[in-house]
Amino acid sequence: MFQAFFKTNSLIFAPMNQEDHLKKIIAHSKEYGYIFPSSDIYDGLSAVYDYGQHGAVLKNNIKDFWWKSMVDMNTNIVGIDSAIFMHPKIWKASGHVDQFNDPMIDNKDSKKRYRVDTLIEEKIEQYKRKGKDEKAAKLQESMDALLKEDDFVGLKELIEEHGIVDVFSGSKNWTDIKQFNLMFSTNWGSTGTDDELVYLRPETAQGIFVNYNNVMKSGRMKIPFGIAQIGKAFRNEIVARQFIFRMREFEQMEMQYFVRPGEEMKWYDHWKEKRMKWHLALGTPREKLKFHDHVKLAHYANAAVDIEFEFPMGFRELEGIHSRTDFDLTQHQEFSGKKLQYFDPELEKNYVPYVVETSIGLDRMFLSIISQAYQEEKLEDGSERVVMKIPVEIAPVKVAVLPLIRKDGLPEKALEIFDKLKYDYSCHYEEKDSIGKRYRRQDAIGTPYCITIDHDTMEDNTVTIRHRDSMKQDRVSVEALEKEMADKLDLKNLLTKI
Ligand code: GAP
Repeated sequence: MFQAFFKTNSLIFAPMNQEDHLKKIIAHSKEYGYIFPSSDIYDGLSAVYDYGQHGAVLKNNIKDFWWKSMVDMNTNIVGIDSAIFMHPKIWKASGHVDQFNDPMIDNKDSKKRYRVDTLIEEKIEQYKRKGKDEKAAKLQESMDALLKEDDFVGLKELIEEHGIVDVFSGSKNWTDIKQFNLMFSTNWGSTGTDDELVYLRPETAQGIFVNYNNVMKSGRMKIPFGIAQIGKAFRNEIVARQFIFRMREFEQMEMQYFVRPGEEMKWYDHWKEKRMKWHLALGTPREKLKFHDHVKLAHYANAAVDIEFEFPMGFRELEGIHSRTDFDLTQHQEFSGKKLQYFDPELEKNYVPYVVETSIGLDRMFLSIISQAYQEEKLEDGSERVVMKIPVEIAPVKVAVLPLIRKDGLPEKALEIFDKLKYDYSCHYEEKDSIGKRYRRQDAIGTPYCITIDHDTMEDNTVTIRHRDSMKQDRVSVEALEKEMADKLDLKNLLTKI
């Protein structure tokens, strides 16, 4: 299981290859209640996943960190929760009906369909894995140029030139490239006609744009101001592999920042920096993150950048920051016939605000956290452990309370401590198995602190705190425990870094 090792302090880490890494994360996520394939007993539903007992809490903690940093930490940003179903005209106005397409290619032998950019990107990663960096860079450059021009003939030639094969059939028998719309639709009402077609939203942003007037007026908002939202989005992704990286049902955390026309680039730079700081606050090393400017801008943008993270399958988009101009509000103004403007008292005029958007996929953020957190360690005594080094402030289980043995009043004392801490933290109580086994299980779940109650506790009211990452143990009094945990686990520790 463990291949080559390198050593830091008392621990020895085992580097993993990329494919193994992702496979291990998927298996670990299932074994420890983080992520299950959706409809598992029916053999799953492609690119749809369920979050288990620990995954659901970790997801909520990420949301909480995002919401607090974007909404609570700012005097001029508010949060909303708009409906998934929206008036069908919204998607016509936003351009999604006509332009939310991806160039796709089919393999004639396997009958599988692929997104062209994803197919070529996989080849780029393959080159990189083989140390052919120059070839990878050249392919990336050619693909970017052809995508920018919508040159489908050129893209197909590129696929052929690089001998890209279908992973299922091994065949190079490709169709021509065509555009496919990614929105899911369903019928509203009982007749099932096209007039009643509604879409499952492919982004949460439109729910913010169409509520611009409502929030601006009811919240007496003054420009610049932001509206944030967390919610589900749906896309009929064709290449939906790589676990929760590309799903058909996923969650987004988006914020639209409404600004004076002409000031959008200032705010675009501001939010680029802020969002990068948010990732760094979680302890993600800077070298695992990079900015990637969009070569081909979406129909609504005058500038766009991705924050990419080094996922187990390579650097990929984690978050987008987009300067969306006044495109969306102007379109909704036209399609709805309602004015979506702002009277600027300083300039003494009305205008349609410009918008800078920050948009991050919650599930991708989850994958970035667990893929960094998952570590296999060989310990100095020759034993091995798997540990999830999730940032302590967002770990799903914060504290495990463990009586050393199941007698002599230790369980009762442990439950007393559990009852003290449970109001502030998600705690586990566990008395089964040896203490060593219980520590290993908590390591695998990612619990940052184990509190052990032993016979000395009954004498001097002290407990052992065992630290997940270093495995060091401290002795503290029960009275000091709440303060000790508060100092370590307060989300403020992260929020003050942004
Ligand atoms: N409102 C702008 C917008 O939706 P996007 O780049 O299409 O922009 C934003 O999506 C983010 O949503 C991405 O950076 C990614 O993290 C996440 N995302 C997009 N499609 C996804 C999918 N199929 N599965 C999981 N996350 C996805």
